[in-house]
Amino acid sequence: MKTLRTLRRAALPLLLALCAVALSACGGDAPSNAPRSEVVVGFSQLGSESGWRIGNTASMEKAAREWGFGLMLDNANQRQDKQIAAIRSFISYRVDVIVFSPIVETGWDNVLTEAKDAGIPVILMDRMIESGDDDRYTAYIGADFLAEGRRAGKFLKQKADAMGAKHMNIVEITGTEDSTPMRDRQSGFMWTIKDDDRFTVIESVSGDFLRSKGEECMRYLLEKYGPEGIDVVYSHNDEMTLGALKVLEEAGVKPARDIVIISVDAQQEAVDALREGRINCIVECTPNLGDAVMEMVDALSKGKQIPKRNHPVETAFTEFDDLSDLAPRGY
Ligand code: AHR
Repeated sequence: MKTLRTLRRAALPLLLALCAVALSACGGDAPSNAPRSEVVVGFSQLGSESGWRIGNTASMEKAAREWGFGLMLDNANQRQDKQIAAIRSFISYRVDVIVFSPIVETGWDNVLTEAKDAGIPVILMDRMIESGDDDRYTAYIGADFLAEGRRAGKFLKQKADAMGAKHMNIVEITGTEDSTPMRDRQSGFMWTIKDDDRFTVIESVSGDFLRSKGEECMRYLLEKYGPEGIDVVYSHNDEMTLGALKVLEEAGVKPARDIVIISVDAQQEAVDALREGRINCIVECTPNLGDAVMEMVDALSKGKQIPKRNHPVETAFTEFDDLSDLAPRGY
């Protein structure tokens, strides 16, 4: 019997050539050793909204090359329907493992059931789906976003202590609605400050993890409350923070001095701003997940079990730290 798998192998060079075209269209390089590969990974990336995301895609490409795996990469440009279509195409090509970063937490039930019925293991990378302990995915690898939110809240308490602040008005610029980092960075932060009377979150607005929207949000908040009405900006990623800094500085406000700025990711441009005294704290979120993902792919391709939940080790960088030895971030 000529199995689907055999047919797929026959069609593999063509598929990987098509991948290479898709990759070059979004600025990446096709894995040089892909056509020789036996293990094929279908990777649905959610978009290119941030330096973090671009670094994450690069990390996956590099790791696939180093492990000698074929990588079919599809960039969904922030559209869930495109992610679902990409996963369906990976199923019909009978890839060995599907990896994807769910743009939002809900709406994956059908396509994950299809992957399960086809016997293809799914690794959720970076973001989770709503139904946490679901047997339709094999493993999750990504940040502990709740811990990130808690680190942001912990820094704020430390900063308020150092300032001797009696009361602080906080504005929050959140990431994509219904996404795991948005939900958990918010919950972890709120949970940490909720019993402390010094803090009031006066408004949360969504900036969708985009620099342009970070600018828009900050402009709106500044017009509404004025610089004197805002003591803290908690922004869910560096791109939005960098957009907010631009608006504040254009308005003559000194970020990190007149208003406390707390960000997440620690991409190079934001770390530079922290060193320049324009950001007070950045909670780290690493995009460098490629190697760990490929290690899981390798284990699965050899029929081994892998742990269900996997978090990288992360930290926070603050104005109180000596950052002189901090290595270039690479994203
Ligand atoms: O899911 C991780 C988040 O997505 C990063 O913090 C952000 O920059 C990216 O867009």
